[in-house]
Amino acid sequence: MRNSSLIYICNNCGEQFGKWAGRCPNCGEWNSFEEQEASIAPKALSAKSGQKLTLSKLDEDDAPVERSLFQISELDQVLGGGLVHGSAILLGGDPGIGKSTILLQAAASIANLGLKSLYFSGEEANAQIRMRAKRLGLTKSTVLLANATNLRNILETLKSEKPHFVVIDSIQTLWSDQVDSAPGTVSQVRAVVHELVSYAKREGTAIVLVGHVTKDGQIAGPRIVEHMVDTVLYFEGERGHNYRLLRAVKNRFGPAGEIGVFEMSGEGLISVKNPSALFLTGREAKTAGSAVFAGMEGSRPILVEIQALIAPSPYGTPRRAVLGWDQGRLNMILAVLETRAGVEFGPSDIYLNVAGGLRIVDPAADMAVAAALISAHLDRPLPSDAVFFGEIALSGALRPAPFSDMRLKEAEKLGFLRAVISQSTQIKTKSALALSRYSRIEELSEAALKRG
Ligand code: TYD
Ligand code: MG
Repeated sequence: MRNSSLIYICNNCGEQFGKWAGRCPNCGEWNSFEEQEASIAPKALSAKSGQKLTLSKLDEDDAPVERSLFQISELDQVLGGGLVHGSAILLGGDPGIGKSTILLQAAASIANLGLKSLYFSGEEANAQIRMRAKRLGLTKSTVLLANATNLRNILETLKSEKPHFVVIDSIQTLWSDQVDSAPGTVSQVRAVVHELVSYAKREGTAIVLVGHVTKDGQIAGPRIVEHMVDTVLYFEGERGHNYRLLRAVKNRFGPAGEIGVFEMSGEGLISVKNPSALFLTGREAKTAGSAVFAGMEGSRPILVEIQALIAPSPYGTPRRAVLGWDQGRLNMILAVLETRAGVEFGPSDIYLNVAGGLRIVDPAADMAVAAALISAHLDRPLPSDAVFFGEIALSGALRPAPFSDMRLKEAEKLGFLRAVISQSTQIKTKSALALSRYSRIEELSEAALKRG
C-alpha cells in the first residue's frame, strides 16, 4: 500500500515532521523545511527472509587498525595518530578558513607515501586547484584532480582508480540522480554521504568530506551527517588572526576533543609546535585584568591569556561581552564574585577576551577568569609569573581540575614560577612551581587585595 502523505525535513538539523512550520521546532531555524513524499510504508518482514548472523565473542583477535601518518604533525595529532584506512572523516568550517588548503596538503602527503590520492572538487576548477598547489609547492605531487559534482561519476572513477585516499570538496556541491532535490539539501547530502561512507567501508578507502557551515538554513550543514562518519573535525579561526585550530569533535578511532594548531602562511598551513608560546606572544604582563590560564584542550595543555576590562557604562544597562568563552559562565562567575567575595562590579561594562582568538571550553578556566576580573576590578596587575586553573562552584568553593600535572609542567616549560590552584588539587609529580592553594573564592580575592 502506498502512503502518499508528505513529510517535511529541516534542512538545518535534519529532523522530520508531519506538518510544515515556518520555524523548525527542533533547532529553531527559519524557513528550513523541505517537502518530501513520505516513503512507502515498509512491509512486515516474513520470518524466513533473513539469514542467521554469526555471533562473536568480545575477546577475539582483530587485525589492528591500519594507519598512515600525514607527517603533518598537528593533523596526525588531531586524528589520534594519523589517518585510519577506510575511515570517513567530515571536515567542517567557515568558507575561507583553509579547508581546501589543508586537504590538498594532506592529499599530497598521502601521495608522497606512494599511495594513490584523489581530489574531487565541485567548488573550484582544476586550474584553481593547480594554482593553490603551486603556492603550496606541491606541483610535483602525484595527487590526481577531477572536477565533479555527479556522485555516479565519482563512484565510477573510484571503482576503476581504487585510491587509498579521497577528498570530496564539498558534499554540498554533489548530487545523486536517485534523489530529486537540489544539491545541498538534506536529502541529497544524506544520500551522497551514505553512498560515499559505504564505499569507504567496503573498499578500505579513507574519504574526507568537506562540509560548509552556513547560518543560512537553505544549505544542509554538516550536522546531519555527523553521525554517519567516523570522525568529525572542525576548522576554526578568528578573522584577523593567522592561526587556525583543528578540533576533533568526534573520533571513533581516537580521543575526541583533540586540537591541532596551524598557522596560515603564504605557503599554506604550517603546524604550530608550541601553541602556548604562540598564544602568549604579545602579552602585557604588567597590565591589570590579565591572567594566564593553564588550560587543557583534548589531551594537550595550552596556556592562554585571559583579559578582563571593566569600564564605566555609558548606558543604563551594563554590557557583558565575551570573546572566546561562554557568556553564561561569565555571568555565573560575576554573580559568585559579587555574592561570595563581595566584589562589587556595579553598573560597569565588563569585557572578557581570550587572547589570540582561542575558544575555551575547559571549565577549569573559571579561576583564571575570576582572577582577571578581580585584577581588573582592583586595577592592579596579577603576578606575571603565575598561572591559574580550577573550577568555581556556585557556593564559591574552588574545585580541582583534572590533568593538573600536565598543566603545571606546561607552565614550567614556559618559564612560569607559580600556580594558583584549588586547595584540593592533587599533584602526583612534584612541580618546580610554587603553589598557592585556596579553597574558596573569597580567599583568592583577599590574597589579591593584600598584594602590592
Ligand atoms: P581555502 O583553503 O580556499 O579555504 P576553504 O576551502 O575553507 O574555503 O583558503 C582560503 C584562504 O586561505 C584564502 O583567503 C587564501 C588563504 N591562503 C593563504 O593565506 N596561504 C596559502 O598558502 C593558501 C593556499 C591560501
Ligand atoms: Mg574550499
